[in-house]
Amino acid sequence: MTKVGIVGAGLMAAQLALLFSQRLGVPVVMRDLDQERVDKGLSYVNDTLSKLVGAGKVSAAAAAKATSLIQGTTELEQFADCDFVIEAVTEVMKLKKAVFAELEEIISPTAILATNTSALSVSDMASDLKHPERVVGLHFFNPVAQMPLVEVIHAQRTSTQALATAFYVAKQLRKTAVLSADRPGFIVNRLLILLMGKVVEAIENGTDPVVADRALRPLGLPMGPFALFDLVGPAVGLHVLTSLREDLGTRFPHSPGLEQIVKEGTKVSLPPASKGAPSEVDPAIAKYFGSNVSQPVALSEAQVLDQVLSALTHEIGLMLEEGVVQNPTQIDVCMILGAGWSFAAGGITPYLDRTGYSEKILGKRFHQEGIASIPR
Ligand SMILES: NC(=O)c1ccc[n+]([C@@H]2O[C@H](COP(=O)([O-])OP(=O)(O)OC[C@H]3O[C@@H](n4cnc5c(N)ncnc54)[C@H](O)[C@@H]3O)[C@@H](O)[C@H]2O)c1
Repeated sequence: MTKVGIVGAGLMAAQLALLFSQRLGVPVVMRDLDQERVDKGLSYVNDTLSKLVGAGKVSAAAAAKATSLIQGTTELEQFADCDFVIEAVTEVMKLKKAVFAELEEIISPTAILATNTSALSVSDMASDLKHPERVVGLHFFNPVAQMPLVEVIHAQRTSTQALATAFYVAKQLRKTAVLSADRPGFIVNRLLILLMGKVVEAIENGTDPVVADRALRPLGLPMGPFALFDLVGPAVGLHVLTSLREDLGTRFPHSPGLEQIVKEGTKVSLPPASKGAPSEVDPAIAKYFGSNVSQPVALSEAQVLDQVLSALTHEIGLMLEEGVVQNPTQIDVCMILGAGWSFAAGGITPYLDRTGYSEKILGKRFHQEGIASIPR
C-alpha cells in the first residue's frame, strides 16, 4: 500500500487517519465536505500527537513524521492515486453508496474500498458499483487507538484480494481481526445492543432502573449498561437498536422510554461517586419508562441477569447457525476485545456452558469439553 484515503474527517475518520499514518508510514489523505470540518479533523490529529509527545509515549520525531504524512482536503481528486480507501462518513446508506460511486469514477480499478459502518449492509453498499468485489467491511471500535479489535466483513461479493488486504491492514495496525459475515450488527454490536435492549425492556416492563443497571455486575463488564449508553451516545445506541429490530426482529425491543430520552437529550448515568467507582444509572429516568405497560412486573437483579444471559445464549446460537462466525471462540475473542468481557471468565461461550445456559436454552453446549478448543 502506497497511499491511503480516508473519507470523512469526523470522530472515527480523524482517529483512523492518525493510526494509519503512524502504523503504515504512508501518505494518508482525509477528506470532508468543507474546510472547517477538515481542519477540525486535522486539529484532533495534532492535539493527540502533542499529548502523546508530552506524556513521553511518542517521540517528537515520530509525531512530526505522522503529521507530515496526513493531508486534509475537500477535493475528491486527491483520492485518485490511493490504493486503499476507507469511508467513515455519517451512518446513512444513501450517503455511503454515493461516496463509493463517486470514488469509483476516479480510483484505479484495483484499489480496495473499505467501510467502517457499524451496522449497515456492506453487500447493499457495494451492490450498484461496477466493481462490488473490491468492497470489504473493516469495523473499528471507538476509541480506535485503544480498542484492539477489528471486525472484517465479508460481503456477498467481496474478493479474496479485498479480504486479504483487509487482514493485512489490520495486522499492520496491530489489531486483532475477526472475520464476520455481512449480517446486521456483525458480532459485537449485535450482542452488546441486545444486552442493553434487554435491560431497557425490563425497565419498560416495571423493573426499577437501579436494579436493572446493577444486575449485570456479576459479569464484571467495564461499565454498567447506562454508563455505556452515555459513552456511545443514547441516540447512536437507539439508532442501532432500531435498525437491528427492523432487520432481526422483536427480540431487539422497542423502547418508547429510550426514544423520549434521546428526544430530550437526557443524560442517563450519574457521575461516579468517587474516582474508580462505577457510574450508576440516574434513578430519575424511571419516569420515561412503562408508558405502554398495564401490569408492571418488577424483576430482581438475578432475574434481569437471567433474562439477559438467556437472550445472549439464544442470539449466539442463531449467529452460529447463520454462519456469522465459524466457531464460538471467535465470538469469545470479539466480546473480550470489543466489549470488555472479562478475560478471566474465559470468554462468553465457555461461561454460558459453565452456568448451564447453553444446555437450557439451546439443548447443547457450545464446547463439548466445556472449554474452548485451542488449535495446536
Ligand atoms: N462513533 C463511533 O463510536 C463509531 C464506532 C464504530 C464505527 N462508527 C462508524 O463510523 C462512521 C462515522 O461515524 P462518526 O462517529 O465518525 O461520525 P461523525 O459524524 O463524527 O463524522 C462523519 C463525517 O462524515 C462527513 N461526511 C458526510 N458526507 C461526506 C462526504 N460525502 N464526503 C466526505 N465526508 C462526508 C461529515 O461531514 C462528518 O464530518 C459511521 O459509519 C459509524 O457508524 C462509529
